[in-house]
Amino acid sequence: MGEQRQDKNPMSKIRILDLKEVPEGKAKRVEVGNLRIAVTRIGDELYAVGDMCTHANYALSEGPVDTDDITIECWKHGAQFCLETGEPISLPATRAVPTYQIESDDQSVYVLLPDKGQI
Ligand code: FES
Repeated sequence: MGEQRQDKNPMSKIRILDLKEVPEGKAKRVEVGNLRIAVTRIGDELYAVGDMCTHANYALSEGPVDTDDITIECWKHGAQFCLETGEPISLPATRAVPTYQIESDDQSVYVLLPDKGQI
């Protein structure tokens, strides 16, 4: 029986913003390599989703955040996406946007991304 090597998925922790730069109830676009990420904060929770609507490639970070429903809305045609899962919850978008692990300390916000070949 062959040995199966199970590599853990190494992650890179990349500082992306000062904590005070993350608006509450609005999104801010951050670029990391080729990724465009919409970052927002609701209360103490940070959220990071792909900043590209899956309907027609408009920036989600330019749309409103609903702090009660925890969604972001595409300003172009109104599709809403869950900030926790990236799933679309209203048409015309039907595909999810990616979500990213995000964390902070007292001063900075970090996104955690797979080390290689994923960006
Ligand atoms: S481009 Fe986002 S809903 Fe159409």
